[in-house]
Amino acid sequence: MPNQKGRLFLLPKQLKALVGSPSMSIHVNELLGLIPILIISAYFLDGILRFLHQFCIRYVGVATVRDIRNKLHEHLQKLSLSQITKEMSGAYVSRVTNDLIAVQSWVAETITTIFNDSSKAVFLFAWLLSVNWSLTLVAVVVIPLFVIPVVNLAKRLRRLSRKGQESIGDLSGYVQESLQNLKLAQAYNLENFRDKKFQNLNSRLFSTLIKTVTIEAMISPITGLVGACGVAFVFWYGMKSVAIFQITLGDFSSYFLTTILLYEPIKRISRVWSTLQQALGASERVFEILDQKSSLTELKPATHLKSIKGQIKFNNVAFKYSDGREILNNINLEINPSEKVALIGPSGVGKTTLVSLIPRFYDVTEGNIEMDGIDIKSVDIHSLRSQISLVTQEQVLFNCSIKENIMFGKPNAKEEDMLNAAKKAHVIEFAEKFYEGFETIVGESGARLSGGQRQRVALARAFLKDAPILILDEPTSHLDSESEKFIQEAIDELVKNRTVIIIAHKQSTIDNVDKVITLDKGMIVSVLNKKELLKSK
Ligand SMILES: Nc1ncnc2c1ncn2[C@@H]1O[C@H](COP(=O)(O)OP(=O)(O)OP(=O)(O)O)[C@@H](O)[C@H]1O
Ligand SMILES: [Mg+2]
Repeated sequence: MPNQKGRLFLLPKQLKALVGSPSMSIHVNELLGLIPILIISAYFLDGILRFLHQFCIRYVGVATVRDIRNKLHEHLQKLSLSQITKEMSGAYVSRVTNDLIAVQSWVAETITTIFNDSSKAVFLFAWLLSVNWSLTLVAVVVIPLFVIPVVNLAKRLRRLSRKGQESIGDLSGYVQESLQNLKLAQAYNLENFRDKKFQNLNSRLFSTLIKTVTIEAMISPITGLVGACGVAFVFWYGMKSVAIFQITLGDFSSYFLTTILLYEPIKRISRVWSTLQQALGASERVFEILDQKSSLTELKPATHLKSIKGQIKFNNVAFKYSDGREILNNINLEINPSEKVALIGPSGVGKTTLVSLIPRFYDVTEGNIEMDGIDIKSVDIHSLRSQISLVTQEQVLFNCSIKENIMFGKPNAKEEDMLNAAKKAHVIEFAEKFYEGFETIVGESGARLSGGQRQRVALARAFLKDAPILILDEPTSHLDSESEKFIQEAIDELVKNRTVIIIAHKQSTIDNVDKVITLDKGMIVSVLNKKELLKSK
């Protein structure tokens, strides 16, 4: 009898004899053209199916993450400032970008493995049961041995994965801070100090990743070993059954091979389980944000403010930031429509905080604020904020053109209204000097403009918004007298016909107001009207 190799050599000979026979040669001639086409078609079809399989699964992963990212960004923008000042902003960036990458690959891997392998395992298991149920029970005894170590290791992986994402968040926040404050670091030769701190954060991430890698590397040998124990156990029990003629050697051989086949999908499912836990750990922080309800709730039914007169009233208002320190206490204040009020007081007393309560950047801790007699908590927040133009202490612009930065005041405004606002705020004088005029991109946070220029863009935005209430937080601080003159002129024009609260340190800013309110130790210590003001001079 020829051996295996010998048989292989005989095959072409046998084929030749077969094809060479007259009856076969007719069929072969017929099939000659068909077979290559069938081969190519089969591979083509297989290629299309593989492509569709891979594409659809990846698509689900990528699309799921796209939707979560959109939701997350939308949600973050709606949270109260008090809810997101605990971490560095870079850490939030990392949540939106990084934390979800794990989910993306997990979706693809899990869907494929769960569909393919669980159906395979169920099919093989059913077959084994039908062949010999008592041997099958022996084969499944080892399955918990797969599950227990994998579940334990996966739990640790989940914790490590979360820790890893936290570290990546810290790193992103740190890098962002380094870049934002590069000038400061260079001016004070802080580069080495900053580097050391960065290296510490980076080492923390490294040690988390090494622990993760160690556990990941352990999973495959452990499942392999458990699988081998299972196979050995089934072999031992099976051979014993063969010895006592409970099962034939032939049946046992095919049974034994199927058992080995059964363990493979189970091993893969346990590995996917650990990947799933890692993805869950990584995305936990994302879902924590999504689950966080905005503390800015509106009393129902919310009133939609259309055009208001501009009266503002504080009733026994007290306020604490989330750290619990009382900043404002017992604030009672009434500002009439079109009244101009200056708010003065020592640095850190709570002036910016007080005006931040009006557009509900933060909610009062006690008391309430009314606008035209309506509690602002019962007003639809969007409509409340559309009644207020705010020019903040630090002028921060978006990284887009001067024109777009002004247009944020009223996105659907006409070009001529934008130019008009730019003229009133003295933006035109410097914008026209740039090669690209109003289309000049201002750089991150407006870095390509000077402090005074940024302030003028912010004023132009307020002009364009044309809201009945105007809040100016130290609009002429950090300016030279030339810029101050420009800005003072712009402000004098801007304050006409609206309710104005202006926070000021300088006498020149408060000369034209109707009332001066002095804050000290978180309380209003004096309210002087025009007459009293003149008398006090
Ligand atoms: N986000 C915050 N979280 C916690 N405390 C804050 C926060 N913002 C400000 N504070 C604290 O609130 C107090 C008042 O700050 P605020 O900015 O209102 O002062 P200010 O009167 O505007 O000072 P300045 O004249 O210097 O602008 C300060 O003691 C400050 O430390
Ligand atoms: Mg301030």
